[in-house]
Amino acid sequence: MDADERAALAAMLEPELKPYDDRFQRHHRLPPTGLDREAVLAEMRELQALEEARWSDGYASGAVYHGDPDHIAFMNEVYALNSQANPLHADLWPSATKYEAEIVAMVASMLHGGDAHEDAPAVCGTVTSGGTESILLAMKTYRDQARAERGVTEPNIVAPVSAHAAFDKASQYFGIELRRVPLGRDFKAEVSVARQLVDADTVAMVGSAVQFPQGVIDPIEELAAVAAELGIGFHTDSCLGGFVLPWAERLGHPVPPFDFRVPGVTSMSCDTHKFGYAAKGTSVVLYRDPDLRAHQYYRTAEWPGGLYFSPTFAGSRPGALSAQAWAALVSIGEEGYLEATRRILAAAAVMRDGVAAIDGLELHGDSLWLVAFGSSDPDVGIYAVLDQMGHRGWSLNGLQQPPSVHLCTTLRHTADGVAERFLTDLAAAVEAVRADPGAGGSMAPVYGMAASVDGRGTVEDILRTYVDVLYRV
Ligand SMILES: Cc1ncc(COP(=O)(O)O)c(C=O)c1O
Repeated sequence: MDADERAALAAMLEPELKPYDDRFQRHHRLPPTGLDREAVLAEMRELQALEEARWSDGYASGAVYHGDPDHIAFMNEVYALNSQANPLHADLWPSATKYEAEIVAMVASMLHGGDAHEDAPAVCGTVTSGGTESILLAMKTYRDQARAERGVTEPNIVAPVSAHAAFDKASQYFGIELRRVPLGRDFKAEVSVARQLVDADTVAMVGSAVQFPQGVIDPIEELAAVAAELGIGFHTDSCLGGFVLPWAERLGHPVPPFDFRVPGVTSMSCDTHKFGYAAKGTSVVLYRDPDLRAHQYYRTAEWPGGLYFSPTFAGSRPGALSAQAWAALVSIGEEGYLEATRRILAAAAVMRDGVAAIDGLELHGDSLWLVAFGSSDPDVGIYAVLDQMGHRGWSLNGLQQPPSVHLCTTLRHTADGVAERFLTDLAAAVEAVRADPGAGGSMAPVYGMAASVDGRGTVEDILRTYVDVLYRV
């Protein structure tokens, strides 16, 4: 991309990323004297009101997983009560330690990691700041375990192409080679190829239940069996599926084993801040064996600031977020999660059936609650459909390899009429694209560029332009 192309891209991105230019005062530096608190709150209320309707009325894929006003009010009250807590100071806030230990125990138990109070050693773990941190920590843990126990100095992990970008992030951050397992036509990892990719430097294998793009479950039992046979760890990423699959199974849906019931599974990630319905900022990473978890902890005995150790990447952490996650779990309970899952799967079934019936669209994968679709009709550019949905208020996810779009069903889509509105708008979007394939899309060209073969350079240009626009005041 040359300078003109970058400027054109910036001009395209600006209205999406900076809609408030000139509508609110901009702060380039600290105000000389503090602003009136009421004025600050008034401005924030205005911004919040501008933004609430879209996610609240069910126009977003994923993003807000619960969002009922009474649940939000409860979460906010919990935050206010715990706003000063910091789990780093376990002496000052033993309540935070209690919440975190119990969050880990409850999630481990949900994923069949045994009950913490039984004599048998139960699955253990830590609370983290989100799915990405859970994954980063697990991969760092396996790297350090392999270095300590097997002397591995050039580690690799073997993960499906569809595994979350956080695994690639871990690879880049921690110097771990990422070996990608291709997917079959069903979008699930090819076990036989996975086996071939493993060698003496492999520190862990990975599968997802469910993966982000199509929401399908990798063949966890088969993949984990390979890992067990070869004596290496296996991580199931259940950031997105961990709080849905156990309840879907209880509701009678076919859910292949993916959790600690599978003998080869040695660690898992599961997000409280998605379908656990906690506020954003918490997830859980679990390990079958406390010896493995020990490799996650940072410690130093030499620092003049004293003996220091921390379980996760952060030092100080918001105890209020852990309190919220705990409060969400115990206030919703098994019955609440079961009912929420029942509603979500019912809404997703309506949307999936409806998408399958739209001429020009094809469903991708056999997900229970993600609605992923593409088009093989040359007159229906799927990114143009994505743009058309954007014009109708929808915030869906654009995917690539293959070009496609998904909506992750949440409780926001279970309200009366939302699933039907999605289908009506989608049918209209497809018709609009058919009528005028080149019609005014803003993101379609960006996806097109990112997916084009001149690859990395273009992606780098897009990223730099995006970040420049993002942080421009
Ligand atoms: C399967 C999967 N893993 C990991 C993540 C990362 O989660 P987070 O955005 O909380 O870091 C996501 C997020 O959507 C996901 O879908």
